[in-house]
Amino acid sequence: MLVNATRMLKKARAEHYAVGHFNINNLEWTKAILLTAEELKSPVILGVSEGAAKYMGGFKVVAAMVKALDESLGITVPVALHLDHGSYAGAKACVEAGFTSIMFDGSSLPFEENLAKTKELVDYAHDKGLSIEAEVGAIGGTEDGITADGEVADPAECKKIADLGVDFLAAGIGNIHGIYPADWTGLHLDALEKIGEATGGIPLVLHGGTGIPDDQIKAAIKGGVSKINVNTDCQLAFAAATKEYCLAGKADPTAENTSKGYDPRKLLKPGFLAIQAKVKEKMELFGSVGKAA
Ligand code: 13P
Repeated sequence: MLVNATRMLKKARAEHYAVGHFNINNLEWTKAILLTAEELKSPVILGVSEGAAKYMGGFKVVAAMVKALDESLGITVPVALHLDHGSYAGAKACVEAGFTSIMFDGSSLPFEENLAKTKELVDYAHDKGLSIEAEVGAIGGTEDGITADGEVADPAECKKIADLGVDFLAAGIGNIHGIYPADWTGLHLDALEKIGEATGGIPLVLHGGTGIPDDQIKAAIKGGVSKINVNTDCQLAFAAATKEYCLAGKADPTAENTSKGYDPRKLLKPGFLAIQAKVKEKMELFGSVGKAA
């Protein structure tokens, strides 16, 4: 059932668990996540970066695919289709394309500009029934081999953005996308507490969900995190399973056992199963299993 993410995240915040946001890249990825959510009776958020949307053919293709899969697979749990780290133009395009939720990431803009653009997009999204996530304090990450530290958001700025009426807020607390460097000092849980106090109960979002120790994930949920984004972990699981399959010689189109021809469905199956296992592991850790109602 495609819905916006407001109700599922308010419920998660009130009941002290987090809903997993899993990024999708193709049909197999999407199907694996939807079927796992249904099996575990967990709400779920499908995250789509602008790059992944472009790869799949555009926002409209993604919205049509997700909607059709959701219906055809008979998914009954709440599913939100959410733009991840959207630009201003991308966020507007997703509202028109049939997404149910958007993120506007204005964290790299001067604060006043982030504030103004977020405000405009809150009205734009709410007019059409979508939920909206905003970001304060850029999430670090590795680009071109250089790892930037994650920023720690200013609670007063978080309050100003939350007061615009955004439905959930990504506030940097030292988290970064991708693999954490060996000298990473962990999440700033003290900052999370201050941000939680300043923003009065709005569900908070933790990006960079790959590689954060389980005890810190649980402490973050206690501190008001109700949505946790995971991408790299699923990519690694998919790649490792595919590699193992290929190294075993099973993807060799000249091999004797491929008398029926080379079958891409078989090549993608191990990765599909690996994503299902990873999503299950995360939903259990986040505490969202059985929370679909
Ligand atoms: P990871 O790639 O570190 O799991 O982070 C995903 C994310 O935050 C997407 O917005």
